[in-house]
Amino acid sequence: MHPKHHPKPPPGQPIPQWSSRLSVGNAKLDEQHITLLELGRDLMRLLETKAPTNVQIHGVLEDIVKLTRVHDALEEKILEANGCPTLAEHKAVHLSARNHLTNLLSDVSRNHLDKAVLVQLISDWMDHHIHENDLPVKGYLKHVPQPPAAA
Ligand SMILES: [Fe+2]
Ligand SMILES: [Fe+2]
Repeated sequence: MHPKHHPKPPPGQPIPQWSSRLSVGNAKLDEQHITLLELGRDLMRLLETKAPTNVQIHGVLEDIVKLTRVHDALEEKILEANGCPTLAEHKAVHLSARNHLTNLLSDVSRNHLDKAVLVQLISDWMDHHIHENDLPVKGYLKHVPQPPAAA
């Protein structure tokens, strides 16, 4: 059931709501961005509850990490096929974000999680990922390259 009133917003930036303004012009990538933002909001909601367990936090964070791996790989493949001139930088940003996420995941596993750090990192990353990293290369994300015909 839905709560009657909105929970207190967590510190850090709110996870942006997806809208057509955030579209990169590629349905599959948009769908993955929408799911990532939803998972981000799930995580924030969970952290606002009284006593989220590490198992719960780990579960949502793991979903984010898994989808990010798939998503980054698809984006990189498309950027490469379309000859994006900033592919190397884009890959480096992806890699660094994935490393941060993986570290957070292992912090949760080892009971070393700082919730404030988690909130800050997730909200910053979700915001930057689409606004600052993907939208500027929108022109190179538009179509999924066709795989070469099977030999
Ligand atoms: Fe993306
Ligand atoms: Fe990206």
